[in-house]
Amino acid sequence: MQLNAVLLSLFAAAASAAPAGDERKFGIMALRSASPIHFAPAKATQGKLVFNLPDSKMDAQCTDGSKGEKGAIFTLKDGELYLYGKDQVQQIYVNRSGMGQGVLGYFNKDTSNPPRNSELKGWAVDATENLTFDGTGLLACPGGDDAFYIWASGVDKPAGIEGCLPFSARTVTQNDAAECTYSTRE
Ligand SMILES: *[C@@H]1O[C@H](CO)[C@@H](O)[C@H](O)[C@H]1NC(C)=O
Ligand SMILES: *[C@@H]1O[C@H](CO)[C@@H](O)[C@H](O)[C@H]1NC(C)=O
Repeated sequence: MQLNAVLLSLFAAAASAAPAGDERKFGIMALRSASPIHFAPAKATQGKLVFNLPDSKMDAQCTDGSKGEKGAIFTLKDGELYLYGKDQVQQIYVNRSGMGQGVLGYFNKDTSNPPRNSELKGWAVDATENLTFDGTGLLACPGGDDAFYIWASGVDKPAGIEGCLPFSARTVTQNDAAECTYSTRE
């Protein structure tokens, strides 16, 4: 009886201390038919998540020598979303405050704090493998050079940007993905 309790608590401790490497790793693919982002993979650079940015602008440092051209890799833990990496813990934040209007990005968790008013928790993958934040899909807004930056939903024209597209963020498992450190503006 007592031994069982000890074993159970050891098991629980081992489960909660499981290294990040055991978690599902996935890319994000935009689903929005008849739009320029349909099937585009989400990429990460300069602290932002973006679709359709040319490969030449990608600057991640990945263990396989690539620069994140094929798309960023993510992991989900306790409702929080991370980039899959090794040297840095890089986490996604959302700023739905009046000024933030749904601005979304990532920061280096070990060396900096999330931007003021940001939310970290609220991410989930639903039964159809769509990634949601606070139960809703995401928004892609034009940012020049045919690129579309990812925002959280809530405001149709965040920061006054015209032409934003709501999209479904389909997660695609990539368990053999390389680890990358993505660039930030810090
Ligand atoms: C988030 O919004 C607050 C205002 O509510 C602002 O001070 C802060 O700079 C914003 N962060 C980002 C990254 O935009
Ligand atoms: C997931 O995304 C697809 C494509 O947009 C959509 O058809 C489906 O309804 C979404 N699933 C849920 C549960 O909203």
